[in-house]
Amino acid sequence: MSKAAQFTRHAIALSVAVLMAACSPSHEDSSTQSPDQPGQASGDLPAPSSSAGLPAGRLAAGEARAQVKGKATGQSCIDCHGADGNAPIDPTYPKLGGQYSDYLAHALQAYRSGDRQHALMTPQATGISDQEIADLAAYFASRPTQLRDLHGVK
Ligand code: HEC
Repeated sequence: MSKAAQFTRHAIALSVAVLMAACSPSHEDSSTQSPDQPGQASGDLPAPSSSAGLPAGRLAAGEARAQVKGKATGQSCIDCHGADGNAPIDPTYPKLGGQYSDYLAHALQAYRSGDRQHALMTPQATGISDQEIADLAAYFASRPTQLRDLHGVK
């Protein structure tokens, strides 16, 4: 990926993170959540806690889910993105380890809804549940990061 493309990607990630922070005045007060908000937990699911309006992510469930072979390509998340999401099988595939969980969840929701489309990634998110998105986002966010900004780049 070119430096310009990398910069754009980081800039987008930062903008999304800032926007999501700005749009969620309270993480604790679930009474401010709209009842018809997509991804709102109900029944036995944990109370919503992330700024993406998803149920709380569970690390162990996310780790297990990251290794499940998808029907679309027969590959799991880590088959393509590598161990900890940090060793992609192709250098153009993004690293996920240590990324903001909100960003990861937002990206997966966008693939699922079709707002973001990619021939390889869209099928991975098709039919995925809010809980699975929250779990996967929590897991990859918890991994060591190899992401960096452009400080020191000449
Ligand atoms: C067949 C290979 C493949 C598999 C399997 C796969 N991915 Fe991806 N993933 C990609 C590619 C390629 C991209 C970049 C797509 C793009 O440019 O939009 C990507 C992008 C992403 C992104 C966006 C990252 C960013 O920085 O914007 C996330 C999040 C993600 N994948 C999570 C997952 C998760 C979670 C799974 C398992 C459910 C998974 N991927 C399975 C290939 C794969």
